[in-house]
Amino acid sequence: MDAQIPEYERYISNLFAPEDAALQLAREEMLRAGMPQISVSASSGKLLHVLARIIGAERILEVGTLGGYSAIWLARALPARGKLISLEIDERYAQVARRNLERAGVVEKVQVRIGPALESLSRLEAEEGQAPFDLIFIDADKDLYVEYLRKAVSLLREGGLVLGDNTLPQAVLDAAADSGTKRYNAEVSARLDLISILVPALRIKGIDGLTISIKQTQRA
Ligand code: SAH
Ligand code: DHB
Ligand code: MG
Repeated sequence: MDAQIPEYERYISNLFAPEDAALQLAREEMLRAGMPQISVSASSGKLLHVLARIIGAERILEVGTLGGYSAIWLARALPARGKLISLEIDERYAQVARRNLERAGVVEKVQVRIGPALESLSRLEAEEGQAPFDLIFIDADKDLYVEYLRKAVSLLREGGLVLGDNTLPQAVLDAAADSGTKRYNAEVSARLDLISILVPALRIKGIDGLTISIKQTQRA
């Protein structure tokens, strides 16, 4: 069964998420730069795009830029006045991302901020007059996912979405391990201010998961 997952991914992405030249080039540039091939798949990129469109997102925050592949899918969901802030610790990756975002025609809408994401998130929390985000995509180091979540929720508007990447299969398979994504899934499922579901997702390498949470108004 699992052997067919790459075929399912190809079927969905060929129909619903064909990559244009900019997205293909983004992957090639990451390969050339010797970066890890851990961007979201095309079908997952399209899922992020569709979710952003559903809620009419105008302000998006991403934790973990890599080469900007998911950022391109997200930024393309934004209206002309929309903004995406993407956080990345590795300056070299951020440079590759900026070039890729430029070729994709979205560089004006995207700001890549370099530094440890926890620090960047604290700085965002402290910024005066910073409007809340409509959508926050968490996709950096898994050990800190719960920390990222807590800051993300405080930066999010009511009705906004927090998305956690790679929440399957490690959360299930590493039964003994105290995996970051497992703790993330436990935390979002228990929080009363979030309505959440883990949606299985396909990657070229196999099954994966995206945990989707809506921030809800707390009722007394
Ligand atoms: N969202 C990207 C993939 C991100 S891969 C896409 O799908 O296209 C995870 C990224 O998080 C890597 O680029 C890694 O350098 C970055 N990262 C890891 N630890 C980090 C930290 N503490 N702060 C900010 N970024 C971090
Ligand atoms: C891997 C995939 C990811 O999407 C990620 O953010 C980190 C690691 C992986 O396949 O190892
Ligand atoms: Mg990921």
